[in-house]
Amino acid sequence: MSKKLKIGLFGFGCVGQGLHYVLNNSTGFKADIVKIAVKNREKKRTVAADLITYDKWEILNNPEIDVVVELIDDADEAFNIVSEALKRGKHVVTANKKLLAEHLEELYKLQQENNVSLLYEASACGSIPIIRTLEEYFDNEELVKVSGIFNGTSNYILTKTISEKLTYGEALKQAQDKGFAETDPTNDVEGFDPKFKAIIIALHAFGLIIKPEQVLNLGVTTLHENDIKYASEKGYKIKLTPIIQRVEENKISVFVAPRFVKANNHLFNVDNEFNGVIVEGKFSGEQFLQGKGAGSYPTGAAVLSDISALSHGCKYEFKKYAQKKSPEFTNEVLLHVYFRYNKVEELKRFELAEVNEKYTGTEYNYVVGKLNLQQILNNREFILKNNLFLSLVDETVELDQKVNKQIVSKELELV
Ligand code: HSE
Repeated sequence: MSKKLKIGLFGFGCVGQGLHYVLNNSTGFKADIVKIAVKNREKKRTVAADLITYDKWEILNNPEIDVVVELIDDADEAFNIVSEALKRGKHVVTANKKLLAEHLEELYKLQQENNVSLLYEASACGSIPIIRTLEEYFDNEELVKVSGIFNGTSNYILTKTISEKLTYGEALKQAQDKGFAETDPTNDVEGFDPKFKAIIIALHAFGLIIKPEQVLNLGVTTLHENDIKYASEKGYKIKLTPIIQRVEENKISVFVAPRFVKANNHLFNVDNEFNGVIVEGKFSGEQFLQGKGAGSYPTGAAVLSDISALSHGCKYEFKKYAQKKSPEFTNEVLLHVYFRYNKVEELKRFELAEVNEKYTGTEYNYVVGKLNLQQILNNREFILKNNLFLSLVDETVELDQKVNKQIVSKELELV
């Protein structure tokens, strides 16, 4: 029989309170929160005062506590807490995607060295059990692609502004009031949050560890009425979609960008704070998972599921990473995009590998064609600063033969 776990909780914000509620209202699983460490001494708390501490060591040095649950906002302090806990032989559950995406390799080693478990289902796509699905079910199968909607706030804003005609400010305020948004919502709307989640998923799906700065994240802040008009006329919805794609046997591409989604795509009807994940296996084909991607109770439920899994000895095995046959990461791919710009000089920064459609008007211009991902990443700041908008028109991710030929010819010159 599994033993009743003693939990030390860090953070009592949206997810911390969600976990507290879900735990106290669960009939199936029991665990005790013995201490809650918080930062703000002024905030009124809804739990008994003797549960609260302002001193992290009260939890980290308490031998009675066997599980640390880390749900604070500050990713750097979260890293200190999680590493100290693992070094002290405590199991850890976290929902902090930034912490994970920035330190996957160190955290992997800390788990191995200290023979403890770090679980983080709630860090990616809220209540959708994507990490465990990849870890346990797809641990052996070679995957082709994982894509979807990994951020509830931006999806909520896109749904409310486009379909329900709320202003951007109103929709964002609602997402904040409902507890979906990050403390700094730039993380949501500029695509940082789904990028961190894509990086975590890339490790479990493909055995690949990459750094956030290697990965393009474009968001929805420069989306304009004219882009919405273009998409609506063609029957598309606009979604912010991370794509993690095998482009060759040993090459994986990862990025986050807006995408025009057709009505026959699984993601078309994933609205509001819902997330969706499509996993494509070499043999199994496509699987689609949908669920609430943000919010106090759904995320609290995912944290509780990890705590319950710990009580049964669950530990990620990272099989695809541990095999030491990890694929290479590449940005040298072509994406099929709609690109809206103001002046011809802006377009000239990009080399179009193919042009399918072009519009030149008095107010704005756009082109539909193929662009190199690395070139888009190099111009990310420029795109944002000049209010340009780029969206995928389909899911095509193909190796950029031109770049690869150049690389090959450079290598030949060296020989
Ligand atoms: N801000 C995140 C989102 C919370 O909107 O998806 C869940 O990770």
